[in-house]
Amino acid sequence: MLLRHLLIAWPWVWAGQAALAQATTPAALQRGYEAVAGTPAQADRGQRFFVQRHGGEWSCASCHGQHPVQAGRHAVTHKVLEPLAPAGNPQAFTDGKRVEKWFRRNCKDVLQRECTAGEKADVLAWLQTLR
Ligand code: HEC
Repeated sequence: MLLRHLLIAWPWVWAGQAALAQATTPAALQRGYEAVAGTPAQADRGQRFFVQRHGGEWSCASCHGQHPVQAGRHAVTHKVLEPLAPAGNPQAFTDGKRVEKWFRRNCKDVLQRECTAGEKADVLAWLQTLR
């Protein structure tokens, strides 16, 4: 009986957690990163960071493109990627967990380390200027 109640409740618990994880916006994420960095973001610095290589083979633009309002193309698999800039993709930067997961993974591929909060804030600031 108890098990049956748990099974019935499960989809709602799950939906609640998913809603929590998604309850964010690009602007709110940027403010969070700025608070950790202790300094305001700079969009032009974010653009340079995004298009430059950092000692490795790839830049962020290698997969996401120079103008990420448009779709990207994965440098290895050639899979089409959703645009990274909010103007081109309303889903971008609305799920904090997802954003952190991809920042971690992609920054390691491009910089051989995780991005700092300041670097994330700069990239977000730049992406939000794109139309
Ligand atoms: C080797 C290819 C590749 C490179 C290089 C790359 N990315 Fe990505 N990135 C991806 C893929 C794949 C996804 C998931 C996209 C999807 O599911 O459509 C992604 C997603 C993301 C997301 C998640 C956005 C969201 O809200 O869904 C962020 C943030 C991101 N990338 C930032 C970066 C940054 C910053 C760099 C440079 C340091 C970078 N990426 C370099 C392949 C790459």
